[in-house]
Amino acid sequence: MTTTPTTPSARAAHARHGYSSYQITLHWTVAVLVVVNWLIGGGMSQVYEAVQQGQSISQWGPAFVHICLGIAIFLIMLGRLAARLRRPVETAAGSKHHILALLGRLNHWAFYIVLLLMPPLGVLAWFFGIDAAGNLHSLLAWVLLLLVVLHVGGALLHLVLGENIIRRMVRPTAGT
Ligand code: HEM
Repeated sequence: MTTTPTTPSARAAHARHGYSSYQITLHWTVAVLVVVNWLIGGGMSQVYEAVQQGQSISQWGPAFVHICLGIAIFLIMLGRLAARLRRPVETAAGSKHHILALLGRLNHWAFYIVLLLMPPLGVLAWFFGIDAAGNLHSLLAWVLLLLVVLHVGGALLHLVLGENIIRRMVRPTAGT
């Protein structure tokens, strides 16, 4: 069980065991954007197919929103990666369940890889007509869904085991 420090010096010493408010804000922003972009991904696929078949498109909206949000996710993930490397944080710090914490660490890095790969692959498919990139993009969309299920499932499992690690992504510790 993680304890919350009360004095400023204890909070500073504790910083690496928790996320900064900047990291927490980026985490939840990406979470919302990924859900929205995932949900309009089907619309994007339809537009993409129609364009490939030379059909005239009346609804560019889903494609436009999908591209804008996808690029935003990519830029935010670069910011998250920079923050994560500048300010390393121990995954599930203080957890007694080491295997679960290790799986959590793998899950987090897999998110960085998948979310940094998907947007460039989408750009290659949409702007350069590289079909293989589109197929890989679609495949990674399902890998991403699996990662989200494992991510949420892992957090809930920690909770069932008496460790409220969700609090770590709600309450910031000192430092940016
Ligand atoms: C991390 C951000 C992104 C997420 C989570 C995401 C998610 C998705 C999803 C769920 C699909 C539907 C896949 C399917 O139906 O099997 C899709 C399709 C597609 N997305 Fe994205 N996307 C992202 C970024 C982008 C960006 C920046 C572009 C740039 C143009 C893009 C272009 C496309 C294209 C062209 C398709 C159709 C691929 C095909 O059907 O072969 N995506 N996306």
